[in-house]
Amino acid sequence: MNIAWGITGAGYMLEESIVAIGELVNLGVNVTCFISRAGFEVLRMYGLLNMVRKHCPGGYLHEIFTDYDEGASSPHAARLALKIYRVLVISPASSNTIAKIANGISDTLVTNAFMNACKTGVKVLIVPSESSYKHVKSKTPISVNRALCISCTTKCPPSMKCPTGAFTLNNIDKLPGLKLTLCEGCRICVEACPYGAVSFGLIVNTRAREIDIENIKKIKSMDNVKVFKNPFKVIDFIKRYR
Ligand SMILES: Cc1cc2nc3c(=O)[nH]c(=O)nc-3n(C[C@H](O)[C@H](O)[C@H](O)COP(=O)(O)O)c2cc1C
Repeated sequence: MNIAWGITGAGYMLEESIVAIGELVNLGVNVTCFISRAGFEVLRMYGLLNMVRKHCPGGYLHEIFTDYDEGASSPHAARLALKIYRVLVISPASSNTIAKIANGISDTLVTNAFMNACKTGVKVLIVPSESSYKHVKSKTPISVNRALCISCTTKCPPSMKCPTGAFTLNNIDKLPGLKLTLCEGCRICVEACPYGAVSFGLIVNTRAREIDIENIKKIKSMDNVKVFKNPFKVIDFIKRYR
């Protein structure tokens, strides 16, 4: 069985989604990943890119396609139109992607894959990052607690040890600054800060907005589209669907 798996830039249930991809691969399913630009950045920040690469090492039907190499027209999304995949999963689906697909917008790799799947009757299984007014616990990538940071200035160990240049000292006030789009989630900075001012995985309570709930309702009413609470429920569905 061949499955296309779309990953968007949502931190909530991101790791669970990658674990679920691994479960499918272990079941002998061919999984191709279609990753939005934000999805790629967020995967990197959480240090999850290598886990995706392990599950999708390359070669036909085991590739990773991203918005970076697919340009504006998303040529590989046409595989959905060619019915090469039995199912398209989008997990996690950010509020942004949910809003786009609810309104027929196809301007990223993932939303183009969705459009092609719908036009040709390929089943789509979607896990929205936040799907109800109930608060969910989301984990942050690296963050700096300014109350604990004593501003070691030029001797700030996290900025000296950061291998990607994501953790730097601001030229003007010499306070630490984090460029998360450069961060690879290695967490060396967490260990390096002697004051415990740098953390990974702080819990933030988030919930869906009214507009997200409305968009999810619209998506639920579409032909061939099913919405799930988490990626493991998607796996249960696929096991029965095979
Ligand atoms: C660390 C991090 C975590 C994020 N988590 C979420 C999330 O859980 N849900 C969400 O809707 N957006 C989240 N976002 C924002 C999306 O990445 C952003 O809206 C992006 O434009 C989505 O683009 P995409 O839908 O094309 O992937 C997060 C952003 C960052 C930097």
